[in-house]
Amino acid sequence: MADMIEIRGLNKYFGDLHVLKDIDLTVKAGEKLVIIGPSGSGKSTLIRCVDYLEEPTSGEVIIDGTTLTKKNHLEMARKYSSMVFQQFNLYPNMTVLGNLTLAPIKLQKKSKEEATEAAMNALKRVGLAQKAGEYPQNLSGGQQQRVAIARAMCTKQPIILFDEPTSALDPEMVQEVLDVMIELAQENITMICVTHEMGFARQVADRVVFMDDGQILEEGTPDHFFENPQNPRCREFLAKILH
Ligand SMILES: Nc1ncnc2c1ncn2[C@@H]1O[C@H](COP(=O)(O)OP(=O)(O)OP(=O)(O)O)[C@@H](O)[C@H]1O
Ligand SMILES: [Mg+2]
Repeated sequence: MADMIEIRGLNKYFGDLHVLKDIDLTVKAGEKLVIIGPSGSGKSTLIRCVDYLEEPTSGEVIIDGTTLTKKNHLEMARKYSSMVFQQFNLYPNMTVLGNLTLAPIKLQKKSKEEATEAAMNALKRVGLAQKAGEYPQNLSGGQQQRVAIARAMCTKQPIILFDEPTSALDPEMVQEVLDVMIELAQENITMICVTHEMGFARQVADRVVFMDDGQILEEGTPDHFFENPQNPRCREFLAKILH
């Protein structure tokens, strides 16, 4: 399988704070990667570098053979990647349908009819077709996050990045969002998912990486992490989240 995402010698500083320390990581086309690690370890910063929401201080992020630069990153993100955030980030002044058709119409130059059809299909897949005309504030957290995932599905980019998509949800809504992500994972889409939902990781991840203090300290299959993690900090972290 071809490499979809290649991260080479990536460093990121915020002022004097060295947040990503010489990260190398390759994700194959269609691969599902889960990133775990303690708060502040650099997980969000790393995936934000993949669509250039953060600019690397040094090193390279290569998407499908093209290095991201100041010049090409908007076009590359439009073509390749969409992000689902912890806090949903839906536009509050637009309906669900408006949220889903905005980027396809404005950025991808789809016709309104085509964008609407794709949006309705995506909403059906996440079980929310009946909410198309609703405003986000009238939806539950779980529903809002499913809308955010449907929005990412509509643009049909080959990469989807999830940053703790279930951590802001009430516990009873976590599974409905995970179910949508599990379904999405059946497709040939490349997924990087920051999450501590290890059941999800076990079900969909091809590979898990553990980050601490800006570095990848361990990587392996989900089973490896359940059965035989080596790094002491990784073991300690897993003991906390798996309790
Ligand atoms: N825009 C920023 N300016 C300054 N420091 C930042 C910025 N964004 C992140 N940081 C710092 O970089 C470090 C890594 O942050 P990051 O958000 O990547 O961690 P994380 O692993 O995603 O943590 P969490 O699990 O809490 O989401 C933290 O020390 C954080 O305070
Ligand atoms: Mg984070």
